[in-house]
Amino acid sequence: MTDSIASKPTIVRLVAADAPAYRCLMMRAYAEEPDAYTTTAEERAAEPEGWWVRRIADPAGASAAWGARVGDDLVGSVALEFSRKPRTAHDALLLGMYVRPESRGSGAAQALVQACIDHCVARGSIRHLKLTVTDGNAAAIRLYESAGFATWGVEPGAILVAGTLRAKRHMWRPIA
Ligand SMILES: CC(C)(COP(=O)(O)OP(=O)(O)OC[C@H]1O[C@@H](n2cnc3c(N)ncnc32)[C@H](O)[C@@H]1OP(=O)(O)O)[C@@H](O)C(=O)NCCC(=O)NCCS
Repeated sequence: MTDSIASKPTIVRLVAADAPAYRCLMMRAYAEEPDAYTTTAEERAAEPEGWWVRRIADPAGASAAWGARVGDDLVGSVALEFSRKPRTAHDALLLGMYVRPESRGSGAAQALVQACIDHCVARGSIRHLKLTVTDGNAAAIRLYESAGFATWGVEPGAILVAGTLRAKRHMWRPIA
């Protein structure tokens, strides 16, 4: 990825006011990369504004999100969800990873994953960071492996995309 000419993005923690830009970015993601997500664009289009605010900056602290910006443009993002159940509160879930095609290869995704890891470490109570990725998504699998994630299982036929069953890898990374 060293031959990229994409501008280096700045990573920022998203706040409630970023919800419209985040929605716009993720609606593009769901529409253009249907294989990559468990949720469809149609499902997300039906969500009210409050859902998008809760996804990126839940007032109760159950989620947080980071954006990659080039100038004023939000070119990528990722979110974390935290369990409220005492017996699973040591796990965090990374989801909604997306970088716009024209900004790929600039290290945006790597920096977004690192922001999630740093946040989990700073939170103190998190022991594992988990995610799922569609099997065969080489770019995403390599990204996560290079950030220390390992595959602990592959779920056959986990999602049905345009009539085809696709397996999902379950990946896991310890938080020191
Ligand atoms: C996966 C994705 C987020 C990577 O974004 P990116 O900003 O281009 O990634 P980075 O520039 O930070 O690259 C980080 C690492 O990812 C891997 N990677 C990224 N693009 C890759 C590609 N096309 N092929 C193989 N590996 C790739 C590499 O390991 C890279 O490290 P390197 O530069 O040292 O080789 C992006 O391609 C994307 O949004 N894809 C569509 C949505 C998606 O699949 N989301 C993941 C859902 S689980």
